[in-house]
Amino acid sequence: MKTYELSAPKGLDALSCQERPDAPIGARDVRVEMKAWSLNFRDLNVPLGGYPGNDKIVRNPPLVPLSDGSGEVVEIGSDVEEFSVGDKVTSSFFRDWESGAAEASQLSSALGGGLDGTLAERVVLPDRGWVKAPSHLTYEEASTLPCAALTAWQSLTAANLIPGQSVLAQGTGGVSIFTLQLAKAAGARVIITSSSNKKLEKARSLGADVTINYREQPDWEKEVLAATNGVGVDQVVEVGGSGTLEKSIASVRVGGVVSLVGILSGPTGGFSSIGAILNAVTLRGIFVGSKEMFKLMNASIEVSKLRPAIDQVFDFDSLEEVKAAYDHLRSAKHFGKVVISRV
Ligand SMILES: NC(=O)c1ccc[n+]([C@@H]2O[C@H](COP(=O)([O-])OP(=O)(O)OC[C@H]3O[C@@H](n4cnc5c(N)ncnc54)[C@H](OP(=O)(O)O)[C@@H]3O)[C@@H](O)[C@H]2O)c1
Repeated sequence: MKTYELSAPKGLDALSCQERPDAPIGARDVRVEMKAWSLNFRDLNVPLGGYPGNDKIVRNPPLVPLSDGSGEVVEIGSDVEEFSVGDKVTSSFFRDWESGAAEASQLSSALGGGLDGTLAERVVLPDRGWVKAPSHLTYEEASTLPCAALTAWQSLTAANLIPGQSVLAQGTGGVSIFTLQLAKAAGARVIITSSSNKKLEKARSLGADVTINYREQPDWEKEVLAATNGVGVDQVVEVGGSGTLEKSIASVRVGGVVSLVGILSGPTGGFSSIGAILNAVTLRGIFVGSKEMFKLMNASIEVSKLRPAIDQVFDFDSLEEVKAAYDHLRSAKHFGKVVISRV
């Protein structure tokens, strides 16, 4: 079967397509014929060395890339009860984080990071590594859920979002568009920023209540305050990192929550904590989510009939197309998710 692999932490030059035999199947394993995959910002860093604790590419290459994928169950082990042949499933970002608070070892089981990932024709994982997809979604749509959507979901729910509250999302990439869609489905008011007026128009068509161009309005936190009668939003899903964190803290109400999710402005840098202290703001690190959270999110998506925003779809069968998918994500021209498909 066709399997993509990164042979060394040397960027996309080390990405190739190989023929591998199908893996044997154990009593608790599930074999899935993969149909679609989606890319996340982290997948741009994995070919360069990955993340601490999730760096198989450094410790034990080659690495099959990508955490996110969807497909059809084609074989189950003798002890599998949760799935049947024919089920439409998606991968779970952390193979081993099933429920409850995460343990360190479970956070090292990220697919396409600490463990081989999903970019292959067929993938075998234990049953705990798969989740049934919402029934109304196509394979391509379902492939967008494991990382970006679940990260947005955990951020919103850990901060106890209730209808009528306000949420700030930053930019129009995968996590932020899911933040917009999930928060709107939950009855929240959503403010979203972007570098592009065209993308803000698209965000309005998905229900964004207030849109701010952060290039035209570099003091965008003042716009957020103005849009909330000077109070600030209830929560921010913070994807910018140290370059945006002080402004995010300034955008949130007294006692509000900033979910620390991303590092788009770079992995290092300082920030002043005084704003968070004086306004008793909660800063909470978020790392995708467990299978249990994924199932709760899917139940909500099933009810709201949310449809993920797919920007562009690339062809699985061409190495050049797969590399083009990575390049498209890196260009940051996308709105929502970038997908690879063999449907
Ligand atoms: N903690 C976790 O579990 C977790 C999970 C998923 C992702 N992440 C992190 O979250 C971030 C977003 O991931 P993603 O996959 O959604 O990325 P993505 O789809 O590649 O999103 C990139 C978009 O973010 C916007 N952006 C870039 N720099 C920005 C800045 N300084 N301020 C505000 N917006 C900015 C741009 O949108 P516009 O063109 O509209 O401005 C850009 O197109 C990344 O840092 C990623 O590593 C963390």
